[in-house]
Amino acid sequence: MKNLSLNIDHVHPFITTEEITGYKAQMKTFISALHNKTGSGNDLLGWLDLPSTISTSELERIKKLSNNLRQEIEVLVVIGIGGSYLGAKAVIEALSHTFAYLKKDRHKPLVLYAGQNLSEDYITELLEILEKKSYAVIVISKSGTTTEPAIAFRILKNHLENKVGKTKAVKKIIAITDAKRGALREIAENEGYMTFAIPDDVGGRYSVLTPVGILPIAIAGFDVYRLLEGARVMQSLTGENVSFEDNPATIYAAARNALYNKGKNIEILVNYSPKLQYFSEWWKQLYGESEGKENKGIFPASVNFTTDLHSMGQYIQEGKRNIFETVISILSPNSELRIPADSGNLDKLNYLSGKRIDEVNKMAELGTKIAHVDGGVPNIRIEIPELDEFFLGQLIYFFEKACALSGYTLGINPFDQPGVEAYKRNMFALLRKPGFEKEKK
Ligand code: PA5
Repeated sequence: MKNLSLNIDHVHPFITTEEITGYKAQMKTFISALHNKTGSGNDLLGWLDLPSTISTSELERIKKLSNNLRQEIEVLVVIGIGGSYLGAKAVIEALSHTFAYLKKDRHKPLVLYAGQNLSEDYITELLEILEKKSYAVIVISKSGTTTEPAIAFRILKNHLENKVGKTKAVKKIIAITDAKRGALREIAENEGYMTFAIPDDVGGRYSVLTPVGILPIAIAGFDVYRLLEGARVMQSLTGENVSFEDNPATIYAAARNALYNKGKNIEILVNYSPKLQYFSEWWKQLYGESEGKENKGIFPASVNFTTDLHSMGQYIQEGKRNIFETVISILSPNSELRIPADSGNLDKLNYLSGKRIDEVNKMAELGTKIAHVDGGVPNIRIEIPELDEFFLGQLIYFFEKACALSGYTLGINPFDQPGVEAYKRNMFALLRKPGFEKEKK
């Protein structure tokens, strides 16, 4: 069976093999701290077993609901911010037709997002589109009190109720939130919405394999069983009994920390397929919110190549030498397109006639790797055989596990996000939210 593969050959000569294997004993301790729940943040480790513990009845419920909704709606609006929407968006964008919104023969609802910003123009324009569409809303918030999704939900709830009437609207609103607590739980129970619970021991950015990600992905028409299967395979490939050398998560965590200790404090996640753009956004949130603490942490950035070779490429080649790249490479694209011959050959491209676009893309990738390594940028490469649910499941679990290990290596708690509160306190005080009078002063 083919699986995700990790290649760290080109972190050399910037770090030595000994510097990576130097983490072996630490990784063993951290892996057992994760599995025995003895490390920091040990009340938020439910994600570790999610691929194999999500219940059949929960999956059946998701399947039934998504089959029904898919017949009834043109648009699904997912309301959420941070970990409450990025996982679903990453997978849906990776698997969808790039121009899905223009496809006439589409049998899948188009998924749109709200509550991930406070832009008045964004929500106004969304309402304009929804006016003419049949739609359902999934509102996702673990705390149930986050301002951005709460505002968006209040607006969309009003819109839907005015559009189809209160009784019909109730059947088109689903809430995903804490099992017992929070304003969203209370609203859902008062209104009689269908609900799904976010497990207590799973934080937002580790929640894509709960209903938070699984439900929108299923409604969008993708195979969530395969996604979970991929994650399950990665769960065993990164398990407690796998040796340091054979475990891609320990090797990745060790290599990036060794690079960090050599002053490489920015990691750029690189893709060569625009379908992975939102996967990078999910990854940035996972690593940024998990590791950026106590004045430490690798800054996670991302680029889309070859597009950004014509913008950020210059900086990466010749700018400050504090970066390394992690490339996600897809071995085979899902389509096949060859470059045609041209009798005039005025564009001088006939040397490429008959070649697949992907062959050119792969040579761009190889050429870029050589140039960037020569220019002082270490390269980590993660290859997946193809872009589908199974390998996305592998990537998700791989990055989650490696993030936890990497966070422990840095000596921080990778499962909290105390820094996110600072802007909220100021915003609430400025908006005169009751209870924030002291901050206002
Ligand atoms: O990863 C996290 O915990 C955060 O990014 C949250 O997902 C985000 O802040 C949204 O929180 P909530 O789901 O409580 O609305």
